[in-house]
Amino acid sequence: MTDQSPAIRPLVAGNWKMNGLKAALDEALAVRDALAGGTDNGTDVMICPPASLLMVLAELTRDSAGLQIGGQDCHTAASGAHTGDVSAEMLKDAGASAVIVGHSERRADHGELDRLVRDKALAARRAGLTAIVCIGETAGQRAAGLTLDVVRRQLLGSVPDGATAADTVIAYEPVWAIGTGLTPTLEDVASVHGAIREALATRFGGEGASMRILYGGSVKPDNARELMAVANVDGALVGGASLKADDFLRIIQAYGA
Ligand code: 13P
Repeated sequence: MTDQSPAIRPLVAGNWKMNGLKAALDEALAVRDALAGGTDNGTDVMICPPASLLMVLAELTRDSAGLQIGGQDCHTAASGAHTGDVSAEMLKDAGASAVIVGHSERRADHGELDRLVRDKALAARRAGLTAIVCIGETAGQRAAGLTLDVVRRQLLGSVPDGATAADTVIAYEPVWAIGTGLTPTLEDVASVHGAIREALATRFGGEGASMRILYGGSVKPDNARELMAVANVDGALVGGASLKADDFLRIIQAYGA
């Protein structure tokens, strides 16, 4: 299989989820320092730390051309009486350039539906952040042969009208592959990413043709290269393996060859 979208600059984003005390900043700084050493292989690299670490990490990486910082979620409003929430504007102000919206863990833990995810993506756009919009089927939906239907429906409902390749990234994360060590076959990844590309190009034209589509779900140093070589896979959204600099850097280097 070959990459049919060579003009698209890949993105490898680490989603730390609810992991990381101050001591974990050392791992992120090791990534920053490794990328500053001239190992740029044409890939954008991002770490999405918990909100508690975001501003300090953004400050520590401000002069780093190689490492971007993202949030993991945002509220739809810019400010207001929403105890415990963080707005896209606050993330931007803290130094983020992107925010993940609609992660399956938020869909499951907080009952987030497509319409809310779409409104969060709109909030990201309003604040000048790139929205990393997550979609993906459950094990049951896959077993029932519904994968493509689910993914198309989530795309339609979660990605706002007028999305561009600059303000939107799609992350296909099969729910059953997250944190399990399981991954779809390369053929299945190609089939789903191909369907996503088709839907994006139909809806958004040239912008959809060049929008990045990340794969996420048990991406590890030893499977990154083959996953990233699949057509229409324009990078990775990495959970567990992004917590250790060595593993994350090996995944980034999967693009090096
Ligand atoms: P894992 O890489 O730990 O499977 O997590 C994937 C994920 O959910 C990234 O958002």
